[in-house]
Amino acid sequence: MSSQPGYLTPKGAVTAPPAGTTVAVVGLGRVGLPLALLFAERGLRVFGVERDARVRELLAERKMPFHEPGCDELLAKVKLEVFADVSELIGPSSPDYIVITVGTPLQAHIEVDLGQISAVTTSLAKSLRPGQTIILRSTVAARTTEFVGRILERETGMIAGREFSLAFCPERIVEGKALVELETLPQVIGAADELSRAKASKLFAVFPVEQLQTTLVGGELIKLFNNVTRYVSFALANQYALIAENFGESVHPLVAMANHNYPRDPISKPGFAAGACLRKDFGMVSENHATTDMLVAAWRVNEYMPNFLAHTLADKSHGLHKKTIAVLGYTFKKDTDDARDSLTPKLLRYLEREVPKEIRVVEPHLPDPIAGEKGDTARNWAIEDALRGAEAVVIAMNHSAFRDVRRFVVGPEAIVAPGAWVADLWNVCGTGEMFFSSKPGVVGGP
Ligand SMILES: NC(=O)c1ccc[n+]([C@@H]2O[C@H](COP(=O)([O-])OP(=O)(O)OC[C@H]3O[C@@H](n4cnc5c(N)ncnc54)[C@H](O)[C@@H]3O)[C@@H](O)[C@H]2O)c1
Repeated sequence: MSSQPGYLTPKGAVTAPPAGTTVAVVGLGRVGLPLALLFAERGLRVFGVERDARVRELLAERKMPFHEPGCDELLAKVKLEVFADVSELIGPSSPDYIVITVGTPLQAHIEVDLGQISAVTTSLAKSLRPGQTIILRSTVAARTTEFVGRILERETGMIAGREFSLAFCPERIVEGKALVELETLPQVIGAADELSRAKASKLFAVFPVEQLQTTLVGGELIKLFNNVTRYVSFALANQYALIAENFGESVHPLVAMANHNYPRDPISKPGFAAGACLRKDFGMVSENHATTDMLVAAWRVNEYMPNFLAHTLADKSHGLHKKTIAVLGYTFKKDTDDARDSLTPKLLRYLEREVPKEIRVVEPHLPDPIAGEKGDTARNWAIEDALRGAEAVVIAMNHSAFRDVRRFVVGPEAIVAPGAWVADLWNVCGTGEMFFSSKPGVVGGP
């Protein structure tokens, strides 16, 4: 294996660590927990570290704290030894590897928040012993792995690459496909020295994937480039939706035709682009320069979409004052129970400004009531109950559970109020229209 940046290590070229090799995963969230479970299933002895007592209690009862396909089954079958703090990993619980998967939010301004990374690294320094390998896996701004190394060197007196190993191995899965993608996506291995690279490569050889060898900063940037590209491509599709609307056209059939049998650069579908990753990850590159860049423009377009839907729906409906509105979808993406940083609460606030009679929220992946991020709560309606008699509808997410919604809003079985306008951001109803009226014959109706 070469440590030359950009070198591709084929599947199976590195021998996986022997069964019983010990690995700690620090931060048992959407990224850390599926990884820890899959490591355990591969025969490693896994120590999970999680500061949230509620998560530790659920895991002690072998219950998943969130939904991720396949994880319930794994949790029932593998052994996960759970700790509250990484400094507890001493003596017989001192692992060969420590993989850090804590959160990396932005501050309120354009600045990364290194709080969780600093806290976990400072705590780790108390238990670090020679020979251990530290792998940062959270999504981070360039040079954050060096920052981690510098803290460990200052606090322990040991040298990275000699007494302990240090690597950056980003997580590139999407929620809902974590287990599948951990075993299929090429794994980026970022390292600054041979020993660290060999150690990190060996650990990830438990998964049958190609490995991409690069530098620490190279690994950090690859992950950011992946997410920023995704965020910008959604912004472009949303910009096309706004342009099409200005010309009295609907974007959905135009994008479908633009992509049809066209061999280059497929256009994304418009939709809400948010969540705990995409928006903050672009902040990680934007904090390093003073100029307005395309990322800010992308942010503005994506952030404008809730406003666009609310005010266009109000215009088409001749106002929403004292009307009953149904809003379908609350989480940040399709078929997940993750509502962090979703744009639907923002949409709800714009709809509230119209002073409607009632807003009925439907989210099949969350319990009733829905707990908002600002301490607010909303009743979680059943689909049919929410739509019955609704005078305006927003389909804000393309959940699989909404696949039958069309018959409730269009045609003879419709249960919404006659003439109710529907904003269908994702073309869930398949009408090809982003806005349509349930009343046949109305301009823009299907
Ligand atoms: N969610 C995704 O789909 C996804 C995909 C790829 C990469 N990422 C990145 O992975 C990282 C983690 O994301 P996530 O969605 O799993 O976040 P998360 O908030 O769901 O999980 C982080 C966990 O770390 C715990 N934690 C924080 N500090 C700790 C400490 N000192 N000791 C022990 N536990 C601690 C938190 O309590 C939390 O449970 C982020 O950098 C994110 O950008 C996320």
